[in-house]
Amino acid sequence: MKVLITAGPTREPIDAVRYIGNRSSGRMGAAIASAATTAGHAVTLILGPVSVPMPAVDRRIDVETASQMHLAVLGEFPAHDLLIMAAAVADYRPKHVHAKKLARTGGTHTIECEPTEDILAAAGVTKQPDQRTVGFSLEMAGNLARAREKLVRKRLDLIVYNPTQTMGSDDVESVLLWADGRTENLASRSKAEFGEVLVNRASELFSR
Ligand code: CTP
Repeated sequence: MKVLITAGPTREPIDAVRYIGNRSSGRMGAAIASAATTAGHAVTLILGPVSVPMPAVDRRIDVETASQMHLAVLGEFPAHDLLIMAAAVADYRPKHVHAKKLARTGGTHTIECEPTEDILAAAGVTKQPDQRTVGFSLEMAGNLARAREKLVRKRLDLIVYNPTQTMGSDDVESVLLWADGRTENLASRSKAEFGEVLVNRASELFSR
Protein backbone atom coordinates (compact mmCIF):
# COMPACT_ATOMS: atom_id res chain seq x y z
CA MET A 1 0.00 0.00 0.00
CA LYS A 2 0.97 3.62 -0.40
CA VAL A 3 0.40 5.21 2.99
CA LEU A 4 0.26 8.93 3.75
CA ILE A 5 0.87 9.74 7.42
CA THR A 6 0.76 13.17 9.07
CA ALA A 7 2.39 13.81 12.44
CA GLY A 8 3.44 16.47 14.90
CA PRO A 9 1.98 19.83 15.83
CA THR A 10 1.32 22.85 13.64
CA ARG A 11 2.49 26.40 14.35
CA GLU A 12 0.20 29.31 13.60
CA PRO A 13 2.12 32.60 13.46
CA ILE A 14 1.11 35.57 15.62
CA ASP A 15 3.94 37.90 14.57
CA ALA A 16 7.50 37.69 13.25
CA VAL A 17 8.72 35.56 16.18
CA ARG A 18 5.68 34.09 17.98
CA TYR A 19 3.21 31.35 17.19
CA ILE A 20 0.34 29.30 18.63
CA GLY A 21 1.41 25.65 18.93
CA ASN A 22 0.66 22.53 20.95
CA ARG A 23 2.47 19.79 22.87
CA SER A 24 2.40 17.10 20.16
CA SER A 25 5.87 15.55 19.79
CA GLY A 26 5.24 13.46 16.67
CA ARG A 27 6.02 10.22 18.54
CA MET A 28 2.71 8.58 17.62
CA GLY A 29 3.20 9.36 13.93
CA ALA A 30 6.80 8.09 14.09
CA ALA A 31 5.59 4.78 15.56
CA ILE A 32 2.92 4.37 12.89
CA ALA A 33 5.39 5.24 10.11
CA SER A 34 7.90 2.68 11.46
CA ALA A 35 5.25 -0.02 11.65
CA ALA A 36 4.00 0.75 8.12
CA THR A 37 7.54 0.67 6.69
CA THR A 38 8.33 -2.60 8.48
CA ALA A 39 5.12 -4.08 7.08
CA GLY A 40 6.43 -3.29 3.58
CA HIS A 41 4.25 -0.30 2.72
CA ALA A 42 5.53 2.80 0.89
CA VAL A 43 5.26 5.71 3.32
CA THR A 44 5.03 9.45 2.74
CA LEU A 45 5.28 11.54 5.91
CA ILE A 46 3.89 15.06 6.15
CA LEU A 47 5.33 16.59 9.29
CA GLY A 48 4.73 19.64 11.38
CA PRO A 49 7.70 20.82 13.50
CA VAL A 50 8.28 17.50 15.32
CA SER A 51 10.56 17.20 18.33
CA VAL A 52 11.53 13.50 18.04
CA PRO A 53 13.56 11.62 15.39
CA MET A 54 11.53 10.25 12.49
CA PRO A 55 12.12 6.85 10.84
CA ALA A 56 13.53 6.71 7.31
CA VAL A 57 10.59 6.69 4.88
CA ASP A 58 10.14 6.93 1.11
CA ARG A 59 9.27 10.62 1.19
CA ARG A 60 9.17 13.33 3.85
CA ILE A 61 7.48 16.72 3.49
CA ASP A 62 8.00 19.30 6.25
CA VAL A 63 5.38 21.96 6.87
CA GLU A 64 4.66 24.47 9.58
CA THR A 65 1.05 25.70 9.52
CA ALA A 66 -2.33 23.96 9.26
CA SER A 67 -2.83 25.67 5.92
CA GLN A 68 0.48 24.29 4.54
CA MET A 69 -0.43 20.81 5.84
CA HIS A 70 -3.85 21.12 4.18
CA LEU A 71 -2.25 21.91 0.80
CA ALA A 72 0.33 19.12 1.18
CA VAL A 73 -2.27 16.48 2.15
CA LEU A 74 -4.69 17.42 -0.63
CA GLY A 75 -1.80 17.33 -3.13
CA GLU A 76 -0.53 13.91 -1.97
CA PHE A 77 -3.69 12.02 -1.02
CA PRO A 78 -4.78 11.17 -4.62
CA ALA A 79 -1.55 9.15 -5.09
CA HIS A 80 -2.03 7.15 -1.87
CA ASP A 81 -4.32 4.32 -0.74
CA LEU A 82 -4.51 5.25 2.91
CA LEU A 83 -4.34 8.49 4.91
CA ILE A 84 -3.59 8.32 8.64
CA MET A 85 -3.90 11.80 10.23
CA ALA A 86 -1.94 11.61 13.47
CA ALA A 87 -0.98 15.31 13.37
CA ALA A 88 -2.30 17.61 16.09
CA VAL A 89 -3.56 20.29 13.72
CA ALA A 90 -4.46 23.70 15.17
CA ASP A 91 -8.20 24.29 15.03
CA TYR A 92 -7.73 28.09 15.00
CA ARG A 93 -5.12 30.55 13.74
CA PRO A 94 -4.63 34.28 14.36
CA LYS A 95 -6.71 36.21 11.84
CA HIS A 96 -4.04 38.87 11.31
CA VAL A 97 -0.32 38.05 11.36
CA HIS A 98 1.89 41.00 12.29
CA ALA A 99 4.93 41.23 10.00
CA LYS A 100 7.07 42.71 12.79
CA LYS A 101 7.59 41.59 16.39
CA LEU A 102 4.77 42.94 18.54
CA ALA A 103 5.99 45.08 21.42
CA ARG A 104 4.58 45.02 24.95
CA THR A 105 2.14 47.87 25.46
CA GLY A 106 0.83 47.09 28.94
CA GLY A 107 -2.74 46.02 29.72
CA THR A 108 -4.37 43.04 28.07
CA HIS A 109 -3.81 41.86 24.52
CA THR A 110 -6.43 40.06 22.44
CA ILE A 111 -5.66 37.83 19.46
CA GLU A 112 -8.61 37.28 17.15
CA CYS A 113 -8.59 33.78 15.66
CA GLU A 114 -10.32 32.16 12.71
CA PRO A 115 -10.88 28.43 12.08
CA THR A 116 -8.28 26.49 10.10
CA GLU A 117 -9.21 24.10 7.30
CA ASP A 118 -10.42 20.69 8.51
CA ILE A 119 -7.92 18.59 6.57
CA LEU A 120 -9.47 15.19 7.24
CA ALA A 121 -12.94 16.40 6.34
CA ALA A 122 -11.55 17.81 3.06
CA ALA A 123 -9.80 14.48 2.30
CA GLY A 124 -13.08 12.69 3.14
CA VAL A 125 -14.85 14.71 0.44
CA THR A 126 -12.31 13.73 -2.27
CA LYS A 127 -11.97 10.10 -1.06
CA GLN A 128 -12.36 7.51 -3.84
CA PRO A 129 -13.99 4.07 -3.28
CA ASP A 130 -10.55 2.41 -3.17
CA GLN A 131 -9.12 4.85 -0.59
CA ARG A 132 -9.41 4.80 3.21
CA THR A 133 -8.96 7.50 5.88
CA VAL A 134 -8.07 7.09 9.55
CA GLY A 135 -8.24 9.86 12.15
CA PHE A 136 -7.57 10.45 15.82
CA SER A 137 -9.79 11.91 18.50
CA LEU A 138 -8.19 13.17 21.67
CA GLU A 139 -10.99 13.46 24.22
CA MET A 140 -11.61 13.77 27.92
CA ALA A 141 -11.92 10.26 29.40
CA GLY A 142 -14.99 8.35 28.29
CA ASN A 143 -16.24 10.74 25.61
CA LEU A 144 -16.63 8.09 22.88
CA ALA A 145 -19.74 9.77 21.47
CA ARG A 146 -17.64 12.77 20.32
CA ALA A 147 -15.19 10.41 18.61
CA ARG A 148 -18.05 8.69 16.77
CA GLU A 149 -19.49 12.05 15.74
CA LYS A 150 -16.08 12.98 14.21
CA LEU A 151 -15.89 9.61 12.41
CA VAL A 152 -19.20 10.40 10.69
CA ARG A 153 -18.61 14.13 10.08
CA LYS A 154 -15.14 13.58 8.55
CA ARG A 155 -16.30 10.48 6.59
CA LEU A 156 -13.59 8.30 8.17
CA ASP A 157 -13.29 4.53 7.93
CA LEU A 158 -11.69 4.26 11.35
CA ILE A 159 -11.08 6.64 14.25
CA VAL A 160 -8.75 6.16 17.20
CA TYR A 161 -10.12 7.49 20.46
CA ASN A 162 -7.39 8.46 22.94
CA PRO A 163 -7.86 9.99 26.38
CA THR A 164 -6.10 13.37 26.65
CA GLN A 165 -3.26 11.91 28.81
CA THR A 166 -1.89 10.15 25.69
CA MET A 167 -0.33 13.35 24.36
CA GLY A 168 3.29 13.36 25.47
CA SER A 169 3.04 9.94 27.17
CA ASP A 170 5.08 6.82 26.27
CA ASP A 171 2.05 4.53 26.35
CA VAL A 172 -1.26 4.63 24.53
CA GLU A 173 -4.65 3.56 25.78
CA SER A 174 -7.21 3.62 22.98
CA VAL A 175 -10.53 2.55 21.56
CA LEU A 176 -10.85 1.95 17.82
CA LEU A 177 -14.22 2.87 16.31
CA TRP A 178 -15.19 1.72 12.81
CA ALA A 179 -17.66 3.26 10.38
CA ASP A 180 -19.77 0.06 10.56
CA GLY A 181 -20.33 0.55 14.30
CA ARG A 182 -17.75 -1.94 15.64
CA THR A 183 -15.44 -0.92 18.46
CA GLU A 184 -12.26 -2.48 19.87
CA ASN A 185 -10.70 -1.61 23.22
CA LEU A 186 -6.91 -1.66 23.18
CA ALA A 187 -5.37 -1.86 26.64
CA SER A 188 -2.41 0.40 27.42
CA ARG A 189 0.69 -0.45 25.38
CA SER A 190 3.79 1.26 23.98
CA LYS A 191 3.40 3.57 21.00
CA ALA A 192 5.50 1.11 18.94
CA GLU A 193 3.09 -1.75 19.72
CA PHE A 194 0.10 0.48 19.09
CA GLY A 195 1.54 1.48 15.70
CA GLU A 196 1.74 -2.18 14.64
CA VAL A 197 -1.86 -2.87 15.64
CA LEU A 198 -3.13 0.26 13.89
CA VAL A 199 -1.32 -0.53 10.63
CA ASN A 200 -2.78 -4.06 10.78
CA ARG A 201 -6.32 -2.83 11.33
CA ALA A 202 -5.92 -0.17 8.64
CA SER A 203 -4.77 -2.85 6.14
CA GLU A 204 -7.88 -4.87 6.96
CA LEU A 205 -10.02 -1.89 5.84
CA PHE A 206 -9.15 -2.82 2.25
CA SER A 207 -10.61 -6.33 2.45
CA ARG A 208 -14.13 -5.15 3.25
N1 CTP B 1 -7.70 17.38 12.03
C1 CTP B 1 -7.64 17.86 10.75
N2 CTP B 1 -7.73 19.21 10.51
C2 CTP B 1 -7.89 20.08 11.52
C3 CTP B 1 -7.98 19.60 12.85
C4 CTP B 1 -7.87 18.24 13.07
O1 CTP B 1 -7.50 17.05 9.82
N3 CTP B 1 -7.96 21.38 11.25
C5 CTP B 1 -7.63 15.92 12.27
C6 CTP B 1 -6.58 15.49 13.27
O2 CTP B 1 -5.37 15.15 12.64
C7 CTP B 1 -7.24 14.27 13.90
C8 CTP B 1 -8.71 14.63 13.88
O3 CTP B 1 -8.88 15.53 12.79
O4 CTP B 1 -7.03 13.09 13.16
C9 CTP B 1 -9.12 15.29 15.16
O5 CTP B 1 -10.29 15.97 14.95
P1 CTP B 1 -10.68 17.33 15.68
O6 CTP B 1 -12.11 17.49 15.43
O7 CTP B 1 -9.87 18.49 15.37
O8 CTP B 1 -10.31 16.92 17.06
P2 CTP B 1 -9.77 17.61 18.25
O9 CTP B 1 -8.90 18.77 17.91
O10 CTP B 1 -9.22 16.52 19.08
O11 CTP B 1 -11.15 18.05 18.74
P3 CTP B 1 -11.89 19.21 19.43
O12 CTP B 1 -10.99 20.38 19.34
O13 CTP B 1 -13.12 19.32 18.61
O14 CTP B 1 -12.10 18.66 20.78
